[in-house]
Amino acid sequence: MLIDSFGRQHNNLRISVTDRCNIRCYYCMPEETPVFVSHSELLTFEEIERFVRVAAGLGVNKVRLTGGEPLVRRDLPLLVEMLKRVAALTDIALTTNGLLLAEQAASLRSAGLERINVHLDTLDRARFRQITRRDELDRVLEGLEVCKQLGYRVKINAVALRGLTEPDIVPLALFARERGIEVRFIEFMPLDADGQWRRDLVLFASEILDILSREIGPLEPIQEQDPRAPAAEFRFADGGGRIGIIASVSRPFCGSCNRLRLTADGKLRNCLFATEELDVKALLRGGGSDSDLGGLIRQGVREKWEGHEIHSAKFVQPPRPMYSIGG
Ligand code: 5AD
Ligand code: SF4
Repeated sequence: MLIDSFGRQHNNLRISVTDRCNIRCYYCMPEETPVFVSHSELLTFEEIERFVRVAAGLGVNKVRLTGGEPLVRRDLPLLVEMLKRVAALTDIALTTNGLLLAEQAASLRSAGLERINVHLDTLDRARFRQITRRDELDRVLEGLEVCKQLGYRVKINAVALRGLTEPDIVPLALFARERGIEVRFIEFMPLDADGQWRRDLVLFASEILDILSREIGPLEPIQEQDPRAPAAEFRFADGGGRIGIIASVSRPFCGSCNRLRLTADGKLRNCLFATEELDVKALLRGGGSDSDLGGLIRQGVREKWEGHEIHSAKFVQPPRPMYSIGG
């Protein structure tokens, strides 16, 4: 089993299938299109599946597909189908910006996908354009509608940005509440390509909770939640709607982390903020055996640090921004 030196058991793997994206959120991507990983350097679906099988043999049972924007990777439903056949996996989910969902949600559903997180920071068209540098809000909303019709379990992820998205907190919560969707607010983390992150741009979890309870109604913590999930979950006391808060900056949850990450170019990362990674692709393409692969995964877990120390002077922003790591 994948237990690190701080006693944390790892069962959760995030797989980035591409670093490309069809929008340019400023907290993630640079404005000018960066140099992306060339197609031949991306892990193939077969390579991803093989990695997942080995990881599953070591106790990984949850997988999330991410990007960049995962739906720009051709034939993604095929990968979902391949992963559905890995018997040890109990949960396969997807994180997407939603632009291509209206087109692809049905084929992903047929492939066996049941859970989707859509990131959507605002329902305001001008602010959507300001954040993503693209005018695509309508496509995201359409995608969300299609997902509801298809019976997906959907959550909305919203990055909270001080001085910008305060007016979006309440409308997003109401929008989600009307549709039976949980909305999760995420504190802005220092993972943007342009290095613009500053502590004073983080809208803190406590402030978000204050806004919601003042403007909508009292919130109460949900008792039966997974202690290892990054979101603290609340429900409105009147019974309508769930809110998640991912307080990555103000209340880091490294102590209960169960996550590993595989980048689109085949590197294993044991932390979002890791500054070192292990080369899975070199092993896969260099004739490594499954047991070598298993050894590499164990090594990644064994070497995991206690936490990202975002609050200490030692903290360094990792060289890879969010789109290149996988959220
Ligand atoms: N800080 C916090 N969340 C971020 N995301 C992307 N960049 C950042 C950042 N700098 C979010 C996206 C998506 C998830 C994968 O990560 O909105 O929901
Ligand atoms: Fe694309 Fe997601 Fe990054 Fe936005 S946060 S630019 S949608 S990868």
